[in-house]
Amino acid sequence: MKTIICSIQEENVEQIAAKAAEIWKKGGLVAFPTETVYGLGGNGLDKEASRKIYAAKGRPSDNPLILHIAAKEQVEALVSKVSDAGRLLMESFWPGPLTLIFPKAECVPLETTGGLNTVAIRMPNHPIAQALLKKSGLPIAAPSANVSGRPSPTLADHVIEDMDGRIDMIVDGGEVGIGVESTIVDVTGEIPTILRPGYITEEMLRNVVGEVDVDPAVAGSVSAEIKPKAPGMKYRHYAPKAPMVLVEGDDATVVEALNRILAKAKKEGKKIGILASQENAGKYQSGIIKVAGSHRDLTSVAHNLYRILREFDKEEVEKIYSESFGGEEFGQAVMNRMKKAAGQQIISARTLMDTEM
Ligand code: TXA
Ligand code: MG
Repeated sequence: MKTIICSIQEENVEQIAAKAAEIWKKGGLVAFPTETVYGLGGNGLDKEASRKIYAAKGRPSDNPLILHIAAKEQVEALVSKVSDAGRLLMESFWPGPLTLIFPKAECVPLETTGGLNTVAIRMPNHPIAQALLKKSGLPIAAPSANVSGRPSPTLADHVIEDMDGRIDMIVDGGEVGIGVESTIVDVTGEIPTILRPGYITEEMLRNVVGEVDVDPAVAGSVSAEIKPKAPGMKYRHYAPKAPMVLVEGDDATVVEALNRILAKAKKEGKKIGILASQENAGKYQSGIIKVAGSHRDLTSVAHNLYRILREFDKEEVEKIYSESFGGEEFGQAVMNRMKKAAGQQIISARTLMDTEM
């Protein structure tokens, strides 16, 4: 398949939105930017389009898709019930990086929801996403526009890398803002439950609805006992090709441990990637150093993370060591993605010095 790649400017938004709408109505796929990451869109009410999305991504078909809408009024037709909490959250955070899980209406095919009786919906606030969604009038099923298992795309180039030749069109709207996927909240039960952390934090949700639960799978590794309610959270995700390890500890110990590893790797002719903070980047003596952002500003880390993981892939590093970023609030989402990229491999700088030397 020949993929149309078009760069969107203010003067051609309407024209590109019309083209995207035409492709969607015929059952085709169009990738487009949102404020979180690029999405790979198809008509969410067309089960054939959903099948094409799974095929293009190489994604397991039990992993449901999020429907993207242009207006809150579209929700009524897609769900069988909106709880009070659901309504409050829609009013407070839409358009924006919040996905809500509702019981689904008949019209939403099980192919789109991965066989579940619930449906995920979000109203993005990116102007290009809004223009395309509005023009089509359709609920657009859109997972992140990466091949399954790879880091989500934050630039059109990433989408081109993964999807060129597999989909009908890629809309290049430049680099996205946030850089990690939307917060997912299940509002089907009594208490709203966070299934995936994101830019909208637990505290922001609490301020609106009071009590909020967090799915146990969010915090740590997934085991037989802890099955995540968002099926996608069980896969090794957002991952670079090289194995990655998160190194915890105070700055001085982390830098010392990594410098020892780098010195050894240099002697052995091994290429090691370091995901560093702005604060410490200058202290590493060799290796491929990439600055994720500042420990004091985790939005910068979120913004850069996936791009850097892809850059490490291109440089074909053998192993990636990352400083550990995280903390409260938005830091939880950043840490969640870093842990997943590292396949939950976390080690203290002390232990690293004892075991690897
Ligand atoms: O920011 C985002 O949400 C991006 C952009 C493109 O909007 N989209 C995105 O989609 O991250 P995707 O498909 O990569 O991740 C969707 C997640 C998966 O973990 C999936 O299991 C979960 O949402 N999900 C979808 N429908 C669900 C449902 N009915 N119940 C529970 N989890 C659901
Ligand atoms: Mg994804």
